[in-house]
Amino acid sequence: MCAKKVVFSGIQPTGNIHLGNYLGAVKNWVDMQDAYDNIFCVVNSHAITIKQDPKELMQKTIDLACMLIACGIDPMKSSLFIQSEIDYHPALAWILDCNIFMGDMTRMTQFKDKSKKNPKNINVGLFNYPALMAADILLYQVDLVPVGSDQKQHIELTRNVAMKFNRDFGECFKIPEPLIIKEGARVMGLDDPLIKMSKSATGKNHAIFLLDEPDVILTKIKKATTDSNSSIVFDENRPGIYNLLCIYEVLSGKDRTSIEDEFSTKGYGVFKNALADIVIDRLKPIQERYRQLKSDEKYIKEILQNGANAVLPRARDTYNKAKDLIGLL
Ligand code: TYM
Repeated sequence: MCAKKVVFSGIQPTGNIHLGNYLGAVKNWVDMQDAYDNIFCVVNSHAITIKQDPKELMQKTIDLACMLIACGIDPMKSSLFIQSEIDYHPALAWILDCNIFMGDMTRMTQFKDKSKKNPKNINVGLFNYPALMAADILLYQVDLVPVGSDQKQHIELTRNVAMKFNRDFGECFKIPEPLIIKEGARVMGLDDPLIKMSKSATGKNHAIFLLDEPDVILTKIKKATTDSNSSIVFDENRPGIYNLLCIYEVLSGKDRTSIEDEFSTKGYGVFKNALADIVIDRLKPIQERYRQLKSDEKYIKEILQNGANAVLPRARDTYNKAKDLIGLL
C-alpha cells in the first residue's frame, strides 16, 4: 500500500480567526483529513514578528488550537502542535537564511504590506518570516501545503530554497506543492471588497469572526459593501456582491448557475439574509464545540503535547541531515 501524502499547514494566533481563514484554509484541512497524513501547527513564533502582549499570546495560542479542534481537526487523524515547542524550526530557519539571497527575500509582498501597517516595528524577524515558514514546511518532508492564495509567494520561496539546498549540498528536502482550493482562496473584507479579509484590519464590519454571535453576523452581512446594480450574478468586476456570492458558493456547495437562478428574481436583501443564515448555521456547531472544549484546557494541552511528540522525530531527522550536509558539527 502506498503511504499517504504528507500535508502541513499553519496559522498564526494573532487577532481572531475569521471566515477567510476558515474558508481559505481550515475548512480544507478538515475536509482532506482522511486522505492525507496531516500536520497542523499554531505558528506562535511567527506571531511575535508583530508586537504581542506575552500573556495574551499564550492564551491566544491555546484558544486557537481549541478553535481548530472545534472546526473539526481530529487529533486521531492529524497531529496538531505549537511551533515554539519544537526548537528545530528556528534552527533550520537559520540554515535556510544562509541560503536565501537578499534579492529573493526583498521581493516578498507580505513583508512590504506588514511594514506599511507597522511602521514603528519593522524588525528583522518580520523580514525573515518566510525563512521560518520554509523551515516549518521543509522539516516534515511535506508533499502538500493547503493555504489561501496570499501564501503562494512564500511557498514558492520555500520550494526555491529547498531546490537550491538539495543542489548545493545533496538531497535533503522534499519539494512541497501549494494546495490552493480556488473557492474560498481569497475572501475579501466585507467593508472593502478590494482588500483581503484580515485579522488586523480595524473596520468594525470588515471580518466575520468564527465566534461572532448570530445577530452580529447578520448585521455585518447586511452592511457589507455592494453596488447600485441589483442583479445577482458572479461578476468579478462587481467585487462586493462577487465576494458574498463566493462565500455562499463554498458554504452551500451549490454551483454558480443554480445560485444565480435561485436569486435571479430577488434583491440583495433576500440574498444577504440567505447568506447570513448559511454562515450562522455553519458556525453554530463550531461555536458550541469551542465553548465545551474551552472548559477543558488540560485536554487541549494534552492533544498539543501528543502532536508535538508525534512530529518531533521527523523534524529532528531532517534537521540533523541538513546540519550534517552543510558541515555543522
Ligand atoms: P495566517 O495566520 O495569516 O492565515 C492562516 C491561513 O488562512 C489563510 N487566509 C485566507 N484565506 C482566504 N481568504 C482570506 N482573506 C485569508 N486570510 C488568511 C492563509 O492563506 C493561511 O492559509 N504565514 C502563514 C502561517 C504559516 C504557514 C506556515 C502556513 C506559517 N508557517 C507553513 C503554511 C505552512 C500565515 O500568516 O497565515
